[in-house]
Amino acid sequence: MSREQLTKIVLPEDKMPRFWYNIQADMPNLPEPGLNPQTKQPLTPADLEPIFARELIAQEVSTERFIEIPVEVQELYRQFRPSPLFRARQLEKALDTPCRIYYKYEGVSPVGSHKLNSALPQVFFNKVQGIKRLTTETGAGQWGTALSLACKQFGLEAMIYMVKISFTQKPYRRSIMELYGGKCVASPSTLTESGRSELAKDPNTPGSLAMAISEAIEDALQREDTNYSLGSVLNHVCIHQSIIGQEARLQLEMVDDYPDIVIGCCGGGSNFAGIAFPFVPDKLAGRNIRLIGVEPAACPTLTKGVFAYDFSDTSGLTPIMKMYTLGHNFTPSGIHAGGLRFHGESPLVSQLYHDGLLEAVAVKQNATFAAAMIFAQTESIVPAPESAHAIRTAIDEALQAKEEGVSKTILFNLSGHGHLDLYSYDRYLSGEMEDIEFSEEDLQESLKSLPQI
Ligand SMILES: Cc1ncc(COP(=O)(O)O)c(C=O)c1O
Repeated sequence: MSREQLTKIVLPEDKMPRFWYNIQADMPNLPEPGLNPQTKQPLTPADLEPIFARELIAQEVSTERFIEIPVEVQELYRQFRPSPLFRARQLEKALDTPCRIYYKYEGVSPVGSHKLNSALPQVFFNKVQGIKRLTTETGAGQWGTALSLACKQFGLEAMIYMVKISFTQKPYRRSIMELYGGKCVASPSTLTESGRSELAKDPNTPGSLAMAISEAIEDALQREDTNYSLGSVLNHVCIHQSIIGQEARLQLEMVDDYPDIVIGCCGGGSNFAGIAFPFVPDKLAGRNIRLIGVEPAACPTLTKGVFAYDFSDTSGLTPIMKMYTLGHNFTPSGIHAGGLRFHGESPLVSQLYHDGLLEAVAVKQNATFAAAMIFAQTESIVPAPESAHAIRTAIDEALQAKEEGVSKTILFNLSGHGHLDLYSYDRYLSGEMEDIEFSEEDLQESLKSLPQI
């Protein structure tokens, strides 16, 4: 079969990258240093050691361009990597666009999303250090599922605080986390292992990632054998996810193609970083390539937020980081893409966006689900609502190119499948989904909570 006819572009297992790519080696401006939440002085490794593994702390500040993937992690990656790159032929036909559209499908991982790419190395580096238990937060449940499985594979315990609204909407996520051996509670929780209930004062709160992060860190701080693990935002997570874009580059080379546009949805920024960062050096070298992060209009961190120092959690326990933020007290509405309900953004994505190397767009919920439905009916895969944000923008770009009479190569990351998101699809199909308006008033109120630096 000629390359022009290929639909699935499969990279052989022995071509799976053995190094992660670290954008910190190539950025024109590195992010401002993170600050200690108490002293507000630049963070030292000692500040982070109570909750993070030493190797992960080293990766946070590393400027090595390539970081070797431990063989133990490579071995587990090979259960699902390299992930396939698809040419979206049926979608192209339906849109009648001259563009070539490709998507990297991370939903083939056993947990259904890209999150395992970072869960495995995070658990591995903690295990090497003798840590026995990890705590974390989860929004949609994808990260919690990934950490649960990774902990089981390396013999650690997992304790997961799941944002309450998602816990209610997606009960089967909890089932999977428990099947893999993790423990999962709704956050804010009224009864946690350490007996805290401070955050649960408002019984009607939908919860937020920021609250769940606070709970998970508080828990980790109370036990010597326990560390905390974050599924996005931090530099080491973006490093681990770089395997997505590196593979995609190799796969496009197999069909002699190269993207004009690379698209990823943006929650904390890790899957967007994963698909986009390996293309940044080309952009810096003058190549005409657009890298677009897509966020929900109800939680528009990059497009409406401010570039400022802020916490990642509500209680002010996390390091203060310079990032785009809506303020750590911003409680995003209960939109159906739970994994994108985060007030902040990866400092690496933020800095590159600030420097004009990345673009961002915000899309509305109904338009996003409409795109998901077109995709399901053409490409046959039910996408995660988060990933559907990337699909929306890929479709919009393909239609725009058609109007302009130009052909472009569009690559997007399909970060996960939506088999456990059927509650949200039902709401969409029954016409009950609302386009929640973003409130400038709430934003201004929340920005008052930014720490004074
Ligand atoms: C399928 C999927 N895609 C994307 C995201 C957003 O996270 P990030 O921006 O870190 O990739 C999530 C988060 O839960 C997710 O589950």
